[in-house]
Amino acid sequence: MSDLTSKVIVVTGGASGIGKETVLQLTAKGATVVIADFNEDAAKQLASEVESKGGNASAYKIDVSKGDEVKQLIDWTSDTFGTFNGIFNNAGIGLVKPLLEMDPESYHKVIDVDQHSVYYGIYYAAKKMVELGVQGTIVNTASIYGSVAATGSFNYNAAKAAVVMMSKSAALELAEHGIRVNGVAPGFIDTPILGESPEVKAALAEQHMRGELIKPEKVASVVTFLFTEEASAVNGQTIPVDDGFLSFKVK
Ligand code: NAI
Repeated sequence: MSDLTSKVIVVTGGASGIGKETVLQLTAKGATVVIADFNEDAAKQLASEVESKGGNASAYKIDVSKGDEVKQLIDWTSDTFGTFNGIFNNAGIGLVKPLLEMDPESYHKVIDVDQHSVYYGIYYAAKKMVELGVQGTIVNTASIYGSVAATGSFNYNAAKAAVVMMSKSAALELAEHGIRVNGVAPGFIDTPILGESPEVKAALAEQHMRGELIKPEKVASVVTFLFTEEASAVNGQTIPVDDGFLSFKVK
């Protein structure tokens, strides 16, 4: 895969899980990465780890559900590093509740963090790239639950389905500027978002072809590919990284 040296890429939710592994892989390929996360301590720790391996990363504290903060993040990145080539809109949360208990607060919490943040990331990133004349790349984290409904996930299903369509719609409108937009749809990935319960984790793992949870680095490698030149003909897609989940019916 081609090198990403001289590319400046923002990773939201970069301090943990899928985002963290993506930060490690992008920086290993030479990219300068801004680790944008609510959890500033973890972001700083990861930035130090990257620096100790000879890579370039900076921590940036943000709440991605706030549009003005996302705009400031993009402005800061381009002002600090002199350019801006890409964003991985990845930060997300889950909040499982039956639909009949899905009060407006619970609904909006997930929609704000998992859906509106992706709009802010696409909108402000694309405007900056066009302003700079950069033919950049945007990648968004959707989910298998953007395609299939899951119990207790009305809010999450709605947000992730929106992310799938935002990737297509943005790709369509930004193609004339040379900007590509894609997504990944992870299956059940072994990260803190799944919680601690071994029973829950085992039940999720069973739904994969190999009966195991997927390691976050397996999602990160697809995301990293999407940022490279080799993926220049991939546009408007959301690529499942789900060990077959969307392709078969569990017994
Ligand atoms: P994680 O919990 O390990 O990482 C999420 C990161 O996002 C954390 O560092 C957290 O501090 C950050 N974050 C949360 N809310 C934020 C906010 N408002 N502003 C800034 N940062 C915020 O979880 P994971 O699994 O790495 O999740 C990453 C993405 O992958 C999410 O969008 C999630 O919905 C998605 N996903 C995860 C799956 C899984 O099984 N782990 C499956 C499908 C999708």
